[in-house]
Formats: sequence, structure tokens, C-alpha cells
Amino acid sequence: MKTSKHPETVKYNFDTCPSRKGTESVKWDLYPGTLPLWVADMDFEVAPEIRAALQKRLDHGVFGYELLPDNYFLVMNRWFSKRHGWKGISRKNIVPTTGVIAAYSAAIKAMTVPGDKVIVMTPCYNAFFPAIRNNKCIQASCPLHYENGLYTIDWDLLEKLAGESRVLLLCNPHNPVGRVWTREELLRMAEICLRNNVFVVSDEIHCELTYPGHDYTPWATLPEEYVLNSVTCFSPTKPFNLAGIQIANIYAASPEVLAKMDRAINDNECCDVNVFGATALQAAYGEGGPWIDELREYLWHNARTVYCFLEDELPLVSAPPLEGTYLMWLDCRAYDISSEALGEHLRLNHGLVLSTGTIYGEAGEGFMRLNIACPRSTLLEGLSRLRDGLASFAARGAK
Ligand SMILES: Cc1ncc(COP(=O)(O)O)c(C=O)c1O
Repeated sequence: MKTSKHPETVKYNFDTCPSRKGTESVKWDLYPGTLPLWVADMDFEVAPEIRAALQKRLDHGVFGYELLPDNYFLVMNRWFSKRHGWKGISRKNIVPTTGVIAAYSAAIKAMTVPGDKVIVMTPCYNAFFPAIRNNKCIQASCPLHYENGLYTIDWDLLEKLAGESRVLLLCNPHNPVGRVWTREELLRMAEICLRNNVFVVSDEIHCELTYPGHDYTPWATLPEEYVLNSVTCFSPTKPFNLAGIQIANIYAASPEVLAKMDRAINDNECCDVNVFGATALQAAYGEGGPWIDELREYLWHNARTVYCFLEDELPLVSAPPLEGTYLMWLDCRAYDISSEALGEHLRLNHGLVLSTGTIYGEAGEGFMRLNIACPRSTLLEGLSRLRDGLASFAARGAK
């Protein structure tokens, strides 16, 4: 990936985007009048190639039940094998569904019985928690180590929890701390899980958005014995900004596991996908490469903008290196402020909405999550509000 912007190669515009205010957008309309840098969708228009495909489908004018064409699987296979070295995706090993939450929730259902423990590495994506509860399982938190600005896995605790748990619900790359797990880390997790008969459910929704020096390793590219002990839940919706269209897939290399996933997705009645989701997926994986490449570059520059701003204007706030995702994890603990109080203060007094660190687990106390998938000018406005908000909070001496 290039790390500097060459105007002659820039084709897509991420500096401006349509207003989403008053469009029933969760991000923009839940707290009207604020600058929302919280929920994980992007403010950018989708790739023109996706829009054209959706327009063509819309123009047909009939939207009855549809089969998934061979092309749906072919474009996924081509994309993942060319970009990520993950070969062999086909109709035979995929269960399509309506979203990644539906996918991992069905996977938990398929692989557990009520009362089983599911390991999560906290702080982690907040919708992992209800999926565990809703399947009548017990959350086994394995908090990540945070030292010298870096998040790593607590291997001893993982080993211990694996001895008493049934599933590891993994986020690869990890929302919210921005780690892109290395092959070595994944192999170590895989070995611990297989040895302890812990099944791995890998949520790879953030896999396309990684930054220089950090390549995404699909779980499905690990040695076969580990892949057979897993499913991968993935979707183009996060990187291509299609979250409202809702489409996702579960990959299982083992036919027995695939049959269990199919059963669970049917039990949960989420086996029929939206016609626009199928169209968007084919356009995204089929034609969306150049757009994604430019987006990654733009986001990488946004991340650099945040680091420079913190250094110059908010030296008491730090952020671990963003290896992947468009979600930055701001360490505000030097202010001795609870995340919840800070979140409320920023929203009510400075019109800025960030995600409160504690929704990702207790390990998120003192942190805030910042969504950088917006035009740079919007991001800078958000950072100014954060600076002013922290200054006014500190001045109040409140906690
Ligand atoms: C790790 C992770 N998984 C799943 C989702 C949601 O997926 P979907 O909208 O396809 O259910 C998100 C959304 O932010 C996420 O960050």
C-alpha cells in the first residue's frame, strides 16, 4: 500500500460526502445536533461501481425471492484468494446470512449447550456480549494486556479459560483496539483451542482495512486441523460501507460443521438474504478493489492526523498503533475521568459523540473509541471538540 497521496492516482473523493442528517441515520440522527464519531459506519458514499450495480438491480423493478448465482461465490473466492491468500471459497463451504452478528450468534448456538463458556478478549466488540447471553452461555473474559501502548494476549489466562470453555469468539482484526493479529498469534490461539477442544468463531468483518506493515491473516489460511475446528464470519458491509444493506457469510471447511451452521441459521430464520445485499456483495468483491485501496490510504492519513493532533494538542491522550479497522482507541486515563462521564460531558457540552470505552467491557474504563471514517475536516472538528471537552472537564475538576 502506498503511504503518500499522489494526486494523479486519486480517483475517488473522500474529502466530501452527502449530509446524513435527517436521513434516519443511527449515527447522525440518534443525537441530533451533534458531531457523531461513534457507531461503526462510514460517512463516505459507496464505491460508484456498487452504486451502479444497485441502480441496475433497482431499475429491474421486481424484487421477489432470489437464488444466489454462481458469481456470488466466484467473486468472493477470487477476492480472498488474490488479496489474502485464502483459497477455495465456494458454494459448498459457505452459509449466507443477513449479517455478521447473525452469523456468529448462530455459530455459538450451533457449537454450545446452555451454560457453556464463551471466551472473548476484552475490550471487545460490544455486540459479542448479548450474543453469548442470548444463547444462554456464560461470558469468559480474557482481558488483553495493555503495556507500553501495545495490546497483547494474556496467554496464561487464555490457556486457563480454554480448559473450561467451549468457544473462542475472536475478532480478527480486533474492534476496538485496532490490532491485526499476526499469524504467530493466531497459530498460538489455534493450538491452545484445539488442544482444549475449544471451537473458534472468527469474526473477520474488519479484514479489508489494514495499514502498512500489518497484513490480515485469515483464520482459514492456518493449518487444516485448526481450520476444521473453526468458522469464519465475514462480510463486505464494513469496508464497503453497506451496513444497512445487510449481508454476510459463514465459512466452514468441515462439512459437519457447515451442516450445523446451516441448521442454526435456519433455526434462527435468517437464511434468506436481501436481493440488494447479494448485488452489492458481487459488485464490491468483483469491482471494488481500487476504491478500497484508496480508502485505506485515506484512512491511514486520517489516523496519522489523529496521532499528530494528540501529540501537539492533547499530549495526555494516547492511542495504540492503528493496525487495522477505522476505529481508534483513545487512552484518556491520564484525566482520571470515567468513560461514561466523559462521554456524557462531550455530548452534552461540546456536541461530540464518541463511543464510551466501558461498553466494550470493564477493560475499556478510561478509554473512548473514535470513528475516523469521515472526511478529514470532520475529523479535525471532532478532535478540536475533544480537546476543548477534556480541557473544560479538567477545569471543572469533575469525575
Ligand atoms: C466486529 C464486528 N462484528 C460485527 C459487526 C456487525 O455486523 P453486522 O452489521 O453484519 O451484523 C460489527 C459492527 O461494527 C463489528 O465491529
